[in-house]
Amino acid sequence: MAVQSGRTAKIWRDGSIVDWEDATIHVMSHVVHYGSAVFEGMRSYETPTGGGVFRLREHMRRFHNSAKIYELPLRWSVDELCQATIDTLVANGIAQCYIRPIIMRTGEQMGIHGHGSPTETFIICWNWGRGRLPGTGPAGGSNVCVSSWRRPAPDTFPTMAKAGGNYLNAQLAKSEAVRNGYDEAIMLDIAGNVAEGSGQNLFLVRDGVLYTSPIASGILEGITRDAVMRLAHDAGLAVREMEIPREMLYVADEAFFCGTAVEITPISHIDKFVVGSGKPGPVTLQVQERFMAIATGRAPDTHGWLTHVPVPVAAGSR
Ligand SMILES: Cc1ncc(COP(=O)(O)O)c(C=O)c1O
Repeated sequence: MAVQSGRTAKIWRDGSIVDWEDATIHVMSHVVHYGSAVFEGMRSYETPTGGGVFRLREHMRRFHNSAKIYELPLRWSVDELCQATIDTLVANGIAQCYIRPIIMRTGEQMGIHGHGSPTETFIICWNWGRGRLPGTGPAGGSNVCVSSWRRPAPDTFPTMAKAGGNYLNAQLAKSEAVRNGYDEAIMLDIAGNVAEGSGQNLFLVRDGVLYTSPIASGILEGITRDAVMRLAHDAGLAVREMEIPREMLYVADEAFFCGTAVEITPISHIDKFVVGSGKPGPVTLQVQERFMAIATGRAPDTHGWLTHVPVPVAAGSR
């Protein structure tokens, strides 16, 4: 299957804007062999006044924290990285895309101890469609399974860090799910409680209350997850962050994934059990509508989540 390219023209590389083709590294770079990279993923949306990067500062703060956990020397401040992101969007002349900041050890080195090996930081814009899983539409819902692969135990890989290596575990879960005919996997934590999807967090709804796993369940502390909790609070809905037993997946009224890539994606089936009515439920639809309205500038940005990017938006493209 051909993989569709989302390439753009320009990439930010440690303070310079370079051509796409020039953002290369050597095969002997430490990162290629030992996975020494942490990254971010965020979206810019077309709004009525240009681009709007969703929660840019929060993403760059998490980027800094991920680098700190792995002792990767990130020489750019959060403010500088935020400005660099805006500069990259402007250089590419695009308002809507996925954005991938990444820091990696690019020093040529054999041996795992990477300290002292040079790092480089890049910010990449990627043209990526909205809602990365099937089932985002009003009648839809993703068909998911519980994976036989668990999230890592707390003393193995730090899941609060968004590190490239974590996604080997995620790839195992996603591949198993797709091989068995599902859209996505839900992974359990080391204790057997519900954790998250391969690249997104999870919410269940029961009797109007939202449930989501705590960060100690081996999940990434998602920024969309936080947005959902705030939107639920705005709407007067209760949210419980608690350990979720597997069987709660099968008796939930509603379930949805959330994350930068998948945005808010309803789940219709889990392990072939129908979730609720099998259609996106009222809480899911309410959260989805509110989230997308704010992200695309259709509703007032009451939480200050969008960073404006001065890029023209083609008339009628929204
Ligand atoms: C493993 C994992 N969990 C959750 C998320 C959702 O996080 P966010 O909402 O910050 O994109 C992501 C996406 O980055 C992820 O890769």
